Amino acid sequence: MSAAVTETNTQTNKREFNADVIRKDFPILNQEVNGHALVYLDNAATTQKPQAVIDALVHYYSFDNSNVHRGAHALADRATTAFEGARASIAKALNSPSAKQLIWTRGTTESINLVAQSWGRANLSEGDEVLVSTLEHHSNIVPWQLVAESRGASVKAIPVSEKGEIDLEAFKTMLSDKVKFVSVAHVSNALGTVNPIEQIIQLAHDAGAKVLIDGAQGLAHFDVDVQKLGCDFYAFSGHKVFGPTGIGGLWGKESILNAMPPWQGGGEMIERVSFAGTSFNTLPYKFEAGTPDIAGAIGLAAAFDYLEQFDRQSMLKHEQELLDYCVEKSAVIEGLKRVGQADCCASVFSFVVDGTHPADIGTLLDQQGVAVRTGHHCVQPLMQEFALPGTVRASFSIYNTKADVDALFIALEKVLQFLR
Ligand code: ALA
Repeated sequence: MSAAVTETNTQTNKREFNADVIRKDFPILNQEVNGHALVYLDNAATTQKPQAVIDALVHYYSFDNSNVHRGAHALADRATTAFEGARASIAKALNSPSAKQLIWTRGTTESINLVAQSWGRANLSEGDEVLVSTLEHHSNIVPWQLVAESRGASVKAIPVSEKGEIDLEAFKTMLSDKVKFVSVAHVSNALGTVNPIEQIIQLAHDAGAKVLIDGAQGLAHFDVDVQKLGCDFYAFSGHKVFGPTGIGGLWGKESILNAMPPWQGGGEMIERVSFAGTSFNTLPYKFEAGTPDIAGAIGLAAAFDYLEQFDRQSMLKHEQELLDYCVEKSAVIEGLKRVGQADCCASVFSFVVDGTHPADIGTLLDQQGVAVRTGHHCVQPLMQEFALPGTVRASFSIYNTKADVDALFIALEKVLQFLR
């Protein structure tokens, strides 16, 4: 049982959420970096792993490791059962009508490439348009540019406001019968903006376009119900939601996935191979060529199980309190400008300070044990829009506390005294 389990809420049957307690479930947090207690504020890049996830990986490799769907022996059976069990449990958490609609990938980037290369090649033609927003990660721009170029289609960017919010009025005017696909982030990795994806999905569908939601930053903060959202695809990464790196998923509507051609060839994705012609496997295997990341899938299911213990609203409330506290503390720092001030914002605080470079701030914070990300955050078009070379980004997760925010600002004051 997790150390986080202190009390049970009898109404919801969930464990009480307490960040000070659950920190102990994440062994990596208990260390010094450069002689200071680690303050990990780079959660939008990757989240840390609870002991339950580490244990699931160790157990799998210690007892069950084998290849899946192939062997006629006990280990192969156990590995297959655990691997498919992981798919079923995550599909259920997303409220997918079936497990076969969840395709394992290496992460959000590969999921988007899968859709662009498979759906895009089959459905885009000369003059068609794909809409993405200006705040997208490169992973949700470049795959579309690659396929659009090969099909004579184009990729257009929905503008964002100075606050870092998608301009819905502009989006409405951009929709036309040329727009075949809309691909937008659930949550901006660089600014934390939570996009109005329900509205975007509805507007795109009304115009006859398919919609992919880049959920890389969404699942760490929100419960996702793919049926309620109504999107055609939802892409996500395991490592951003307390699971291992190298595993992620693509959820898709069954009829659309069924109609899509395979995108990578190899073992598992075939039904029958001959030199006269090859036929393909059914969902989800049609899109899973080669030996998958079996341990990764099992570890990711353990991460979902870990999160399931707690009431999601309590975790979200905690993250929002950290963000509010951070905004409050930042107000007294001379020359600090917050970048992105969306009304609905996840626990991401991006900023610049007059007369300083983000990279210098990041390096000097690290010398005091504070881990943040600096730079363009793989959103160069957004940085160009804001005329910035980059920002310093502190991103908070469920195990961060107000003491971490205090440590960030104590360290930042020292950095700025040194730099100015
Ligand atoms: N996309 C990740 C980030 O925003 C790596 O840091």
